[in-house]
Amino acid sequence: MTINESIAWALQKIFRQEKMDQDAYQQFAELWEMVTKDFQQRKRYSVHGPDHWRRVARNGLLIAEDSGADETVVCLFALFHDSRRVNEVFDPGHGQRGAAFAKECRNKFFTITDAQFDLLYSACEGHTDQLYHADPTIATCWDADRLDLGRVGNRPNPKYLNTDFAKMAAQERDPAKFLATLWGNRQL
Ligand SMILES: [Fe+2]
Ligand SMILES: [Fe+2]
Repeated sequence: MTINESIAWALQKIFRQEKMDQDAYQQFAELWEMVTKDFQQRKRYSVHGPDHWRRVARNGLLIAEDSGADETVVCLFALFHDSRRVNEVFDPGHGQRGAAFAKECRNKFFTITDAQFDLLYSACEGHTDQLYHADPTIATCWDADRLDLGRVGNRPNPKYLNTDFAKMAAQERDPAKFLATLWGNRQL
């Protein structure tokens, strides 16, 4: 099994507290591959697909250093939030479908606590039509997604962001370049 260098690094970062729990790392890497393949079977390319998910994971982990978000939930949000999109436009309900897919996969492909799952479910479900959240993990997930608006030619607007870090990044001259540099320019 091969996984993208950036995701490997993200996983190392998540599991660093557990001194790189190899089983958890392997389980997460396999989950990432499974959801990616499932998506690619249905859609050849999407601006909301796996390339975007990796950048959302990166952005979320960068924000989490400051916001204190749960990094495991942030990475699972990155993977699931757009996993059930069926078109490239607004696609109402895709957040709810992504949340339901995460629920289907829980305990088959990954294990997290009930409290973590509640955050993941709410973050996926709400990302399509809510902007702000008081919980730092959900706020981090949504900001991580919005900081990747450069891929469709839009600048992220600090007005629609929750966290101090994301607001700061959005005001950089080139937010995408700024985030890539902070990530050590690892391939995404
Ligand atoms: Fe979405
Ligand atoms: Fe997204």
